[in-house]
Amino acid sequence: MQTLKQKFIDAGQAHVFKYFDSLTDEEKSALLAQLEQVDLDELKSLNDELLFSKTESTAIDFTKLQPAEYAPLPADKISDAKWQEAKKIGEDAIKAGRLGAFVVAGGQGTRLGFNAPKGLYKVTPVKQKSLFQVFAEKILSASKKYGVSIPWLVMTSHINDAPTRAFFEENNFFGLNKNDVIFFKQGLMPAVDYNGKIIMESKSKIAMTPDGHGGCLRGMCRSGAIDELKKRGVDCISYFQVDNPLVNIIDPYFVGFHILGKSEMSSKMIAKAYALEKVGHFCTLDGKLTVVEYSDLPNEYQEMVDENGKLKFIAGSVAIHILDRNFVEKLGGGASDTKLPFHRADKKIPYIDENGNAVKPEKPNGIKFEMFVFDALPMANSPIIIEGFRGDEFSPVKNAEGLDSPLTCKNHQKMQVARWLDKVGVKVAVDENGVPTDDIEVSPLFASNEEDFANAWNALTEKPEVKNGFYL
Ligand code: UTP
Repeated sequence: MQTLKQKFIDAGQAHVFKYFDSLTDEEKSALLAQLEQVDLDELKSLNDELLFSKTESTAIDFTKLQPAEYAPLPADKISDAKWQEAKKIGEDAIKAGRLGAFVVAGGQGTRLGFNAPKGLYKVTPVKQKSLFQVFAEKILSASKKYGVSIPWLVMTSHINDAPTRAFFEENNFFGLNKNDVIFFKQGLMPAVDYNGKIIMESKSKIAMTPDGHGGCLRGMCRSGAIDELKKRGVDCISYFQVDNPLVNIIDPYFVGFHILGKSEMSSKMIAKAYALEKVGHFCTLDGKLTVVEYSDLPNEYQEMVDENGKLKFIAGSVAIHILDRNFVEKLGGGASDTKLPFHRADKKIPYIDENGNAVKPEKPNGIKFEMFVFDALPMANSPIIIEGFRGDEFSPVKNAEGLDSPLTCKNHQKMQVARWLDKVGVKVAVDENGVPTDDIEVSPLFASNEEDFANAWNALTEKPEVKNGFYL
């Protein structure tokens, strides 16, 4: 205890012991356990770099920025030799048990304002299935289709781990084998005020916040999840976010391109819907693939067009990746020299004032440190990007209203079903925005992509009438 205390004194963080003598034995041990986790050297360098430094270490030379290359979606995948080759390789890998699914669900979902883990949020138009149920059913249906068990890693945080696990238990793992769902908690970082001092949340607790979705790399390694994948022979990890029910989790085309390209990390891109859409941009800088956030890319670059009038930086990043298991170990393992950088996020962090009273700040009062998974791309060998069709890949639930909200997501799910029905010759009535007027839904257990839907539909001896409440 003395040496631990001395370390905090030497690091200018002695205030964390201010109330120590007044605490119960239990509180004392809890605080000490928390303090043991803090890497004070790392914290000092983060404070120096992200809080006190006047120079911007991440400044980008935009004149050197080029759009990233990607495999564009062909007019028809089925008749495209390259895409069919990729599909075959991907299917073989999935059947051989080489693919695992991985959702990052440790975020706090503050924009949605839902008082539970985001994965519990009900998103589907007819059955009101939760995000977790949609993902589980997609994985279950792929397991059946390929005759293999597909392990699913679920990254939680210290805040939402217990309710997330309880939800899976209560729902009997949505039909998945319990042993195939592997939960782990992401790491934590201390939050600091604008003077670099660790924020005290209470007299016996420092403020610790999740280390960002990029924390998943070290989280997978520290928790042993990566060893479990190794044991099962999984070497391709299908990474997705908890807020996007359209995600095509088990996509043989994507897996095939990843394997064919001997890629350590592959990504899907979606063509930006409009120049200033708030997504990351896939670019190359000094020969390295990189994602530049919309907030870091001047508007003139976001709006730049080529000689055909097409957006130059069109490739939007939608947080869909395949990670090679060895690559995760290389970056996330303890012995690694190459680590993801941290970024600062200014936040309202509850604290206790100098008199020990709890305060909920109205405006940001400090920063938390986060890693971003896409920062791994420049470190990956032979990264590959393929294009995805937005309507079958991406409609996140981020905000309570407006763009990327439960309503837009529900509409996009209905539009997907209408498109699939149209392909098999069934017309659905739509409003002036192309959104079906009726609530319609297709379970991933019936089909999770257009090809499978057409096959499953054609196999039905009696076709159901498509009307409000239609559910297959
Ligand atoms: P977001 O950037 O949308 O953040 O996360 P968020 O915390 O969920 O939501 P807001 O910003 O507070 O509204 C994108 C994905 O990364 C995961 C989230 O769960 C989501 O799937 N994530 C984010 C983590 O797993 N851990 C983190 O520390 C941050």
